[in-house]
Amino acid sequence: MKIAIIIPMAEEREYYLEHFQLEAKERIGAVEFEHFTHGSNDIYLGLSGIGKVQAAMALTSLLATTKIDLIFLTGSAGSLQENVRVNDLVVADAFAYHDVNAVNAGPYVIGQIPQEPAIYSLANDYREQFVSFLHDEQIAFQSGLIVTGDTFVSTNALKEAIKANFPTALGVEMEGAAMAQVASHFAVPLIGLRAISDNGDDNADFDFDQFVRRVGKTAAQTISKFLDTD
Ligand code: ADE
Repeated sequence: MKIAIIIPMAEEREYYLEHFQLEAKERIGAVEFEHFTHGSNDIYLGLSGIGKVQAAMALTSLLATTKIDLIFLTGSAGSLQENVRVNDLVVADAFAYHDVNAVNAGPYVIGQIPQEPAIYSLANDYREQFVSFLHDEQIAFQSGLIVTGDTFVSTNALKEAIKANFPTALGVEMEGAAMAQVASHFAVPLIGLRAISDNGDDNADFDFDQFVRRVGKTAAQTISKFLDTD
């Protein structure tokens, strides 16, 4: 299988470079990908940079030129729920934009880009396999909606405003819905695994700086272990 792993930040990528044997670096469109063969899999590791456009650009570059069977989006996220804590793993069952409002442009809900779905569901067989693997390995995780926007959420007020629109969302980050949008147009399955680095509140900037590397490693170890089973 050809598998893409897209990561926004270098701090969240370090573990992969230690764990896999680098074979080649390849510039594909806008992004330099690291290429590994691991078991029967071909792995493309791409550092997208932060935010919706960076994520979309990285994934579009890859999917437009290379036949990919499965995409992982990973890295960190802020928590939106009390029972989702720093270092917890969240497997997205869907992504939505929290910073899109075209409600007055037609029959659209908050978060919905015109002529796009309100949320991007990630139901696919590979996600099921990944979730079964987590259960088998007794790796704790929560599963649910993750919301995306071009804002680092670092005030209680913004966190509450997002929760008012998306009361069930478990986490917030800056790339997931954009990746899910691109993946859906290319019809390639996506798994989103985020590790919580902060609570998206008034302490978020401090917590993020302190924990991003550690939780990025937690997410990377989890995906690497899954890929090791092949
Ligand atoms: N990624 C990690 N923490 C985040 C936050 N608080 N807001 C947006 N993206 C994040």
